[in-house]
Order: sequence, then structure tokens, then C-alpha cells
Amino acid sequence: MEIKDAKKMFLEIYGGDDKNLRFFASPGRVNLIGEHTDYNGGFVFPAALSMRTLIVVRKRDDNIINLAATDLPDRVTLDIDNLESYKHLKWGDYQAAVAYTLQQAGFDIVGCDMLFDDTTPHGAGLSSSAAIEVATALAFATFSNEKNGITGPVDMVYMAKLGQKAENEYIGVNCGIMDQFASAMGREGHAIYLDCKDLSYELVPLNMKGCKIVISNTNKKRSLQTSKYNERRSQCEEALANLQTVMPDKEFLGVITPEEFEANKHVIKNDVARKRAAHVIYECDRVHKSTEALKNSDLVTFGKLMIDSHNSLRDLYEVTGEELDTLVEEALKIDGVIGSRMTGAGFGGCTVSIVKEEAVDTFIEKVGKAYKERIGYDATFYVSETGDGGREIKL
Ligand code: GLA
Repeated sequence: MEIKDAKKMFLEIYGGDDKNLRFFASPGRVNLIGEHTDYNGGFVFPAALSMRTLIVVRKRDDNIINLAATDLPDRVTLDIDNLESYKHLKWGDYQAAVAYTLQQAGFDIVGCDMLFDDTTPHGAGLSSSAAIEVATALAFATFSNEKNGITGPVDMVYMAKLGQKAENEYIGVNCGIMDQFASAMGREGHAIYLDCKDLSYELVPLNMKGCKIVISNTNKKRSLQTSKYNERRSQCEEALANLQTVMPDKEFLGVITPEEFEANKHVIKNDVARKRAAHVIYECDRVHKSTEALKNSDLVTFGKLMIDSHNSLRDLYEVTGEELDTLVEEALKIDGVIGSRMTGAGFGGCTVSIVKEEAVDTFIEKVGKAYKERIGYDATFYVSETGDGGREIKL
């Protein structure tokens, strides 16, 4: 919804006038390449989207946080002195998680009325939860700083870290840092080449040369995703522990080169763990190569690396599934498709494809039709625009 409509809805819900309203926003992300590498101290290459969470917020004089959303009937009230007790909420738990995590980190959480408006589709692997976390963290940190006379901009990398901590410890999803970092630090027209071991990064201009980034949503209902995700993490830890018996200085799979891996992979005892590690190590190599390709405006090489990435996620990491594989297979049949792969955690969610502008309509029509025929229900398509990271919007 547009900001002016969200503002109107806020006043309908909470009353009063629009004098002291503030607006905070943070985007979803699409990862171009570098999947399941972040929690292995490796490299990722996400871009922030124009799809975002917007929060309309007004401070209160008491210890109450009221939550509402533009697309949900639920209304939730949180008590600032009791923030650890909202884990059971169906909606509002992410906001409580962030408020609690900031409070534990020493921020002075201020009571407020909040209205959330998300344009990032939920459960689609485009980081709608990171968008909520980072926007919420920014709002609370801004109020806390103002109350305590702390001036200057909020540290957005810190907000990303606290968002991840909230998700890991309060929500119980053991995610890496990519989604929150992309949401906090993205910039319109750029992707972020991020080294997850130390969070050093570079913003790389997305020079798309007449191509569009098309996101295709499988619309698959995801189940058991968290447990499968956590299982992959522990398989990587097992592979690393084996490799460390011969390479004790390697702290993460993401710092091991393909050559080092090939020379030492025999020490990984479990076949499955060896496959997982191979994916992570070659995927990091692909991130370096594709970043270079993009800098050289070489979209053809970029596209090939995307296809290799998908195949590796299908065959070695085993996180794609029929729906994602179908979308990629059908995409690659269309003239004008430069590359296509799953994006995000997998097991459903979305693919990302680089498509020549003049082929986008055909892509959506043909891939949509073939997907419906093969899978039985519709996919959804978004011709994506990039956007800025977490920010306060001053009207
Ligand atoms: C999810 C997690 C990220 C990352 C991706 C896979 O989006 O939240 O931290 O691990 O999956 O690359």
C-alpha cells in the first residue's frame, strides 16, 4: 500500500492526528548467487528489492507496544517489561523478538503504536521476515537513541546482527546473516558482494544491459523447512570438523579453495557431508567469478554460473525439489534467458532469472503455462526492481 494510505489506516486504528507519525522501511532481498554459504563463513551476492516492510509508528507515554498490520485482522499488545513472553504468538512474534533482543543489548525500548505494511510476499524466500526485523530494529533503535540524547545515524550493520540474533534465539531459526545484512545495507541499483566471515562488503552496480531480473514464485507451501535447513548446517559442521584434522587453521568451509578441497576431501568420512561441503566451496568460487563477470558486464558468464549454482543445489546440497527444478528447466527453454536458479533457502520459495527485456512477457506466459501443467497450480512472477536498505522515510 502507498504511504499515504498506510497513514490513513494508522489513524483509523489508533486515532489522533498525523503530527507525530514516523515512517521506517526495510526491503526484502533476492540472492543472485551464493546459496547456503553465509553460515559457512563464505560469500553471497544478494540485492535489496523495492518490495519492503513499511512501519508507520507513533511513540506512546507508557510501556505498551501496539502492533497492527495492513493485511491482517490481528491486533497484538506487547508489554515492554515482559518482552520474553511472546514466543507463542502467530503474528507479532518477530516484532517482540526484535524488541526483546534490542532491550537485552542495552537499548531503551519505548512504547509505541505501530502499523506494518509488507509488500514482500510472505514465505516466498524473499526475506519478508528480515525486512520486518530490520525495519523494527531501526525504529526502536532510533527512539532509544533519541531518548538518550545519542545523535548520528543508527549503525545498520549492528541492526542486521541483532535481527539475526532475534531470529536465531527468539524465533529459533538458525539462519545466517545474509538476509538481514542485505535488508539493512542494500542500495538501489546494486548487489552486495559480502564476505560473511567478517562482514566486509562491496556494493557492485547491477549493470543489466537490457536485461531484467525476474523472480518466479513456486507458491509451494513449505513444510519442515527449518529442520531441513538446520540439518544442512550440521552436515557442513561435520565436514568442516573432518577437514580441520588436516587443515587446522581453516575456520570455515567458506575459506577453503576448490584446490585445497580436492586435495583433502578424502578425510570427510560421510558421503553426504562431503557433497554438502563440495557445494559450499564451489559455490563461493562461483560468487567470486560472477561478481567479476558482472563488473565486466559479462552477463553470459554470470548466467552460466547461475545455472551451475542451481545444479549444485539440486545434486549436491539437495534443497531444490520438483517445483524449483521445473521453474528453472522451463525458464532455460526460453530464448532470451541468460541464467536461472533457485534463490534463498530452497525447498520451495522462488527462482531468480536474468531475462532479456524483450523476452520477459514470453517468459512469464510460457513458464507460467508449463508450470501449471506440470505442477498443478500457478506460479507467480515479479519483474523485480532493486531498492534501498533500511531507512527512515521523511515525508
Ligand atoms: C535463508 C537464510 C540465509 C541463507 C539462505 C541460503 O534465506 O535466512 O541466512 O542461509 O537461506 O543461502
